[in-house]
Amino acid sequence: MITKINALKEEISALVATSAEEVEQLRIKYLSKKGLVTSLFNDFRTVPAEQKREMGQLLNELKNLATDKINALKDELGNQAEAASADIDLTRTETPLPLGSRHPISLVKNEMIDIFSRMGFTIAEGPEIEDDWHVFSSLNFAADHPARDMQDTFFIMRDPADVLLRTHTSSVQTRVMEKAQPPIRIICPGRVYRNEAISARAHCFFHQVEGLYIDKNVSFADLKQALLYFARQMFGPETKIRLRPSYFPFTEPSAEMDISCGLCGGKGCGFCKNTGWVEILGCGMVDPNVLEACGIDSKEYTGYAFGMGVERITNLKYSVKDLRMFSENDVRFLHLFDAAH
Ligand code: PHE
Repeated sequence: MITKINALKEEISALVATSAEEVEQLRIKYLSKKGLVTSLFNDFRTVPAEQKREMGQLLNELKNLATDKINALKDELGNQAEAASADIDLTRTETPLPLGSRHPISLVKNEMIDIFSRMGFTIAEGPEIEDDWHVFSSLNFAADHPARDMQDTFFIMRDPADVLLRTHTSSVQTRVMEKAQPPIRIICPGRVYRNEAISARAHCFFHQVEGLYIDKNVSFADLKQALLYFARQMFGPETKIRLRPSYFPFTEPSAEMDISCGLCGGKGCGFCKNTGWVEILGCGMVDPNVLEACGIDSKEYTGYAFGMGVERITNLKYSVKDLRMFSENDVRFLHLFDAAH
């Protein structure tokens, strides 16, 4: 019996447990009614009378040892749980959430709006889902004129082909002229859509800022002066502009405007294909047909219009080589413009 007691003493002293269930199993194994320690007490009856005192003492010691050990294991686990919950520091202040940054397209668009508002332009907006009249017909695109193919259109309804995504913000010109009489001096920032394969140099949607000024005696010289002011505010006081003849159905005469290349200062480099110039916008005098289509007397009023891509201007300012960066919303890219705020 002594051997049994000593063996159990050793066994119990070495016990370990990793969970409350394990502790409970150990308690059952040693201390329950049929447990190893308890059953030794049953054997106590067979112990000869002269040894009973000594054995009783040993058995009690064993029972106390087992009870203490089980309680110690329980306490240990309890302390660990407490320590774990103590890791949550309820007094700590909230981790500050990282702030987003303004999108480069918004930054540049706002800068453009700022510059033109200094010249007295106000903002006008129109729908992105448009009809043929506002995007094409009112702007002097004849029904079967090939100029309609200049801008690959997403049609929402093909038959009749009358619901479509606007391909340019010139549709807002019509919307404003239909409602208001001159003087009109507006810029129309907005998103436009063209059915083009997405690549580094083209996207199926992008942003434009359109300008329209109609009043008595508005001339091409006024257009040129407004655009020169814009170019110098946007790209620096040394910037030069040049106008090349071009064609748009809704302006006559029409032109495309280049600015002197900001990278080489006009000397010629890879970026400007050694011409010293980069194209930034289309413009012209509003065609009298457009004025008439919108209910404005073309004998009394003249006007100019221009339209430019915001992505294009942003590229020239910040040298973003891949247009797709603008719509991927990668925060690492967007944070590059934080300093421009
Ligand atoms: N709407 C033309 C385009 O998207 C730009 C433009 C606007 C040209 C106004 C002339 C006048 O290409």
